[in-house]
Amino acid sequence: MCGIIGYIGSRQAQPILLNCLGRLEYRGYDSCGIAVSEHGINVCKDAIRVEALKKTMPRLNGTAGIGHTRWATHGAPSLINAHPHLDCSGKIAVVHNGIITNYQKLRDQLTGEGHQFVSETDTEVIPHLIEKYYHGNLETAVAAALNDIEGSYAIIVLATDEPKLVAARKDSPIIISLGDRENFIASDVPAILDYSNRVVYLEDGDIGVITTDSIKVSRRGSEVATKVHQISWTVEDAQKAGYEHFMLKEIHEQPKVIRDTLAGWVSGEALEDLATMWADDINALLILACGTSYHAALIGKQMGQELLKIPVRAELASEFNYSTQLLDRTLAIAITQSGETADTLKAMKKLKEVGCQTLAITNVVGSTASRIADRTLYTRAGPEISVAATKSFTAQLMVLYQLMMAHPEIGARKLNSMTKELRQLPNKVQQVLDNEGETAQYAQELSRYENIFYIGRGINFPVALEGALKLKEISYIHGEGYAAGELKHGPFALLGSDTPVIALLAPDDTYEPMLTNIKEVKARGSAIIALTREGDEDIEKIADKVLTVPQVEAIFSPVVNTVALQLLAYYAARERDCPIDFPRNLAKSVTVE
Ligand code: F6R
Repeated sequence: MCGIIGYIGSRQAQPILLNCLGRLEYRGYDSCGIAVSEHGINVCKDAIRVEALKKTMPRLNGTAGIGHTRWATHGAPSLINAHPHLDCSGKIAVVHNGIITNYQKLRDQLTGEGHQFVSETDTEVIPHLIEKYYHGNLETAVAAALNDIEGSYAIIVLATDEPKLVAARKDSPIIISLGDRENFIASDVPAILDYSNRVVYLEDGDIGVITTDSIKVSRRGSEVATKVHQISWTVEDAQKAGYEHFMLKEIHEQPKVIRDTLAGWVSGEALEDLATMWADDINALLILACGTSYHAALIGKQMGQELLKIPVRAELASEFNYSTQLLDRTLAIAITQSGETADTLKAMKKLKEVGCQTLAITNVVGSTASRIADRTLYTRAGPEISVAATKSFTAQLMVLYQLMMAHPEIGARKLNSMTKELRQLPNKVQQVLDNEGETAQYAQELSRYENIFYIGRGINFPVALEGALKLKEISYIHGEGYAAGELKHGPFALLGSDTPVIALLAPDDTYEPMLTNIKEVKARGSAIIALTREGDEDIEKIADKVLTVPQVEAIFSPVVNTVALQLLAYYAARERDCPIDFPRNLAKSVTVE
């Protein structure tokens, strides 16, 4: 999604804005631009990468400015459609993330009043509306303009006549960050980590104003007290540290992420706290999420059903929003790495309206999900920059394991044996990473295919979905995750020598049926690559290739299996020379429905 940044302070704005835009690249974008104000507003923008903009743009003087990375929704990627957008006078510039749903009506009205538009974007109505309402006070003009606007927005406004930046939000995230004789506005934390780790989150409907020395937040016309969050992420956390891609670095961080997310559990502090999530009257779980986080939700469903023996549902947040469901005595868990996914937030709000207890599992301290939910459990994955989720998924699983294990019905024996296994997981994952060379070789072979099936059963069916999602998003190979038993109900028609099948095995009651399914697939001419535990001799005789992972209890097999599949997708994409960290058409934080 679009990234926005604003700077005002005692230094030149241009290099700072460009640096921050570089940090926002991971959100996915097709165009970028900045506007800097000195004795007028100078804009430089195009449908190019930030590095190219840096090289081609002239020097712009000024200590206040705004910047934008665009992810096109209204109008193709082009210089004209790139942000910032200006009013007629060229004195007001705006950057925007979100969608203005009534923009056509506003554009027609404003055109009738003499305003001239140059782009196809919905955003351009905003500077024109502000111009219409501007009578010497930028904040008042922005508030008036927002009254006319329907849709979602995080905006930053720069005006030549006032030494300040004004920000506002509705359903799109925005933060203010505090520096020393300088202040920032940004769509998310990694953008500003080079300069500050003190952050104020704006709520929907807030208007924030920053100058070099001050910040002010107003809600419904009155100033409100601001809460400053100290962010523990460091600049190094958000850098590649010598790895070729952020994705590879993040895959390799997983042993540490598991240790960090389990720290409270291992020290014994977390159990009591987590047990309080299970109020006496809770007798069902609903887990909601999108994309990779949804796959964690599906694994959570399997865990819950096996360990707690209570009804557990996992739903796509985007679909849940169209359903009516019985939610009596249900704990609703929303899983979201960013804490800003529009569909997930909408589902959370809907659940709160019907009086459901809500729990957010998120990676971003202070994110919108954490502010909507009654309770929040944080994953300790650190900033995830690569668009493809890897370490955040593993961290989500770690939180789910702990949450389920803290349920009062879990017996001491089960608790102890699972805790023992959990403690070993960082080393087991390290062993998967140590096998990177062999996995990369398999990936090279797979990279020449255009279609690959992933099959699994039980708790490894969602892992098949996740493996396929990872493959398709970064290598552009069509990966299809399927429940192994379902292949014969249709997809068999697609099998053959040009479609290999990756079969995921675990030491549980799905093992035997998986062997049967694998034989069925072989009979249809597809090559089988089996992902299984070390020492699995039966599979050696059937599969064409075997990739092994360390032995773990079946309930933990999604962790080691997923890490192997992440590497497989990574090396397939690398072989095909794909832009791994920033796949085409994708965005890290999906703030539109
Ligand atoms: C895939 C991926 C996406 C996200 C999805 C939800 O690799 O990253 O599918 O998982 O957009 O994002 P969050 O977890 O931030 O709600």
